[in-house]
Amino acid sequence: MQETIDKITRSFNAELEKASSVAELNELRVRYLGKNGVFTEVMKSLKDIAKEDKPFFGKLLNDARVKIEEVLQEKDKTAAKEEQRARLLAERIDITLPGVSAEAGSIHPLSKVKAEFAEIFTSLGFEIKEGPEVELDFFNFQLLNIPKDHPARDMQDTFYITDDVVLRTHTSPMQARVMLEQKPPIRVIIPGKVYRVDDDASHSPMFQQIEGLVVDKNISLCDLKGCLETVCKKLFSSKTKIRFRPSFFPFTEPSVEVDCSCPLCGGKGCRICKGTGWIEILGAGILNPKVLDNCGIDSSVYSGFAFGVGMERVAMIRYGIPDIRIFFENDIRFLKQYK
Ligand code: DAH
Repeated sequence: MQETIDKITRSFNAELEKASSVAELNELRVRYLGKNGVFTEVMKSLKDIAKEDKPFFGKLLNDARVKIEEVLQEKDKTAAKEEQRARLLAERIDITLPGVSAEAGSIHPLSKVKAEFAEIFTSLGFEIKEGPEVELDFFNFQLLNIPKDHPARDMQDTFYITDDVVLRTHTSPMQARVMLEQKPPIRVIIPGKVYRVDDDASHSPMFQQIEGLVVDKNISLCDLKGCLETVCKKLFSSKTKIRFRPSFFPFTEPSVEVDCSCPLCGGKGCRICKGTGWIEILGAGILNPKVLDNCGIDSSVYSGFAFGVGMERVAMIRYGIPDIRIFFENDIRFLKQYK
């Protein structure tokens, strides 16, 4: 019996030597001290021993068992500690690393400008309307006093879909649509996409305009100037001035080009205003009586003004952007600057 116990202890010690993890130690415990373990087996053989020797060997066996239990417990503790240390090390978070910030999108500069226009004009009592981008030649040109084959059509390089259908070259056809639908007083703006056969640093085949239309009794150039000056002051700065230069559009008479004092240099002259202190921002004028009559509004009673602003142009001035194409390239580095 003594020999058996020694053998068990030796083999246990040898195995203990190799076991290092909590799991391995557990396995060892089950194999030696478990219900069907080595010790239980030896315990059974006690019954073959002479009765008077039983207490002695029983104690021997029990001492060996207790010893093994103690050793196991001791090693268990160190193994558990070691495992925890390893785990903590592996899971350590480097708090000096830069955090992972959630990417937030930003509003496109053109959308910002569009929203600002909408806010300014609605605060002045204007309604906002929208209209079709695929438009009848009739609205895009004819009602606006630009007959078929008239040289005035050369002012706008047009995408013709058929002889009678075009991609609208400006938002002005909405003047006609609104006047045919609504009786004066009319005060609307119409933002939207327009299309022209044009493509360089300052022209894009698709761009956006805002059309403005006011029809009422006794509307004059003074109303136009007052309205546009108010808008430019709100859009750029309270010091912004505007000036009118004579121009020509078939649908307005008189027609003007409107310049505003350069918002970047305040009128002193810079790269953006090419040293002049002024920047051209839109076309406008007093509604040609022919257009009013074409649209069923009596030009002997009513008059009106209209204007068309290029949204990209305003955004380019506003943010000092040199090339129109950059708006549509979706380069994330460009867009991120407008967060
Ligand atoms: N439709 C013109 C263009 O795209 C701009 C314009 C000029 C609009 C004068 C108007 C206006 O309403 O009165 O070039």
